[in-house]
Amino acid sequence: MAQIFPRWSNETPRYTLIATLVLASAGIFGVYYWASPYNTDVGYMPKQPIAYSHLQHAGELQMDCRYCHAYVERGPHAGVPPTQTCMNCHSQIKKDAPTLEVMRQSWTNGTPIAWKRIHKLPDFAYFDHSAHMGFGTGENRAAIGCETCHGRIDTMAVVKQVQPLSMSWCLECHSDPAPNLRPVEAITRMGWTGDLAWRDKAAKIAVGLHPPGDLGRVRVAAADGTHQTFATTGCTGCHR
Ligand code: HEC
Ligand code: HEC
Ligand code: HEC
Ligand code: HEC
Ligand code: HEC
Repeated sequence: MAQIFPRWSNETPRYTLIATLVLASAGIFGVYYWASPYNTDVGYMPKQPIAYSHLQHAGELQMDCRYCHAYVERGPHAGVPPTQTCMNCHSQIKKDAPTLEVMRQSWTNGTPIAWKRIHKLPDFAYFDHSAHMGFGTGENRAAIGCETCHGRIDTMAVVKQVQPLSMSWCLECHSDPAPNLRPVEAITRMGWTGDLAWRDKAAKIAVGLHPPGDLGRVRVAAADGTHQTFATTGCTGCHR
């Protein structure tokens, strides 16, 4: 007797199950993407407890970023300065200004100023500032400047996010870092540009780098006739 149902129909329940799972995860993704508070985006600019201005301090007064963001070269987080750092100057300068009332309260009570966080990745993505502040060896050292990821902070009275901080944004640079490399001495310099000699050097340095998820390198390997699966090894660099 002829089979009424073709052989592949044995697979049908399994496909239904897979389809259900895919739809369910798309649903979860949708909630995550549109409803999650993590989806803070380009232009995000919350009101801060003190009208602190980078334009005034980093721009006009030319203070180095690391005076306040002291951990940027040492670990994953750049860090926001404690009240003590402000007091170094403001125990003398503008010491009675009403604009600094919240700072004075924080100093007397010993409670930190409640700065609102602007740039924030979801917990499942790992980022490390120090890894971007110097890499390569000997002569071939380079870095990524604050400006490349945060924009011209020295011109901002109020900080705002200028890059999407999305996975594709990370991978775009990881696959072709050369145009974004600069000398380590210039990490905090705003408006820095490289001359032709630097660009040649940067192209050579980039060849020796291995940032996670480097799609460019996978394509190069395939052109050589070797077989390498699509960037799978890179995932754990940022998803640990
Ligand atoms: C006098 C201290 C000081 C200096 C100098 C300074 N900052 Fe800041 N920075 C702060 C404070 C305080 C905050 C938190 C309030 C705010 O967002 O404005 C902050 C916030 C930031 C943020 C946003 C943090 C977040 O929540 O996502 C970035 C990015 C940043 N600074 C980059 C820089 C860069 C780049 C420089 C150098 C050009 C610099 N800062 C110089 C004190 C400083
Ligand atoms: C290296 C010294 C220095 C440090 C450190 C510093 N400031 Fe200032 N700040 C100044 C100077 C100088 C001015 C401009 C004063 C003027 O206009 O005469 C100023 C102005 C200000 C003003 C504007 C005050 C007004 O009413 O005009 C605020 C607000 C302010 N700073 C907040 C902060 C905060 C918050 C911190 C710590 C994150 C900080 N500053 C760290 C030197 C400093
Ligand atoms: C390669 C891109 C990149 C560079 C270069 C970079 N940042 Fe960031 N920064 C980020 C990302 C991404 C976050 C959010 C990190 C997170 O949520 O874990 C961030 C967060 C911050 C924060 C707030 C959270 C924290 O880490 O304390 C500050 C302050 C900051 N950056 C300052 C700086 C300064 C100052 C420099 C230069 C000395 C710099 N950044 C260079 C990408 C960068
Ligand atoms: C403008 C260029 C640029 C951007 C944007 C960038 N990176 Fe990187 N990243 C690099 C370079 C260059 C290295 C160093 C590669 C090396 O050491 O060989 C690196 C290294 C890393 C490392 C390796 C640290 C280690 O322990 O070896 C991690 C993790 C990382 N990046 C995460 C991220 C994440 C997450 C983002 C996006 C939120 C991001 N990066 C955005 C250029 C960039
Ligand atoms: C250079 C760092 C980096 C690498 C390498 C990387 N990711 Fe991501 N990934 C991120 C960041 C950052 C986010 C968060 C993006 C956001 O918040 O918009 C993310 C988000 C995700 C998400 C969540 C999507 C969502 O919005 O819910 C998945 C799934 C994911 N990555 C899978 C992968 C896989 C698979 C690989 C390997 C092929 C990989 N990632 C490699 C940085 C990276």
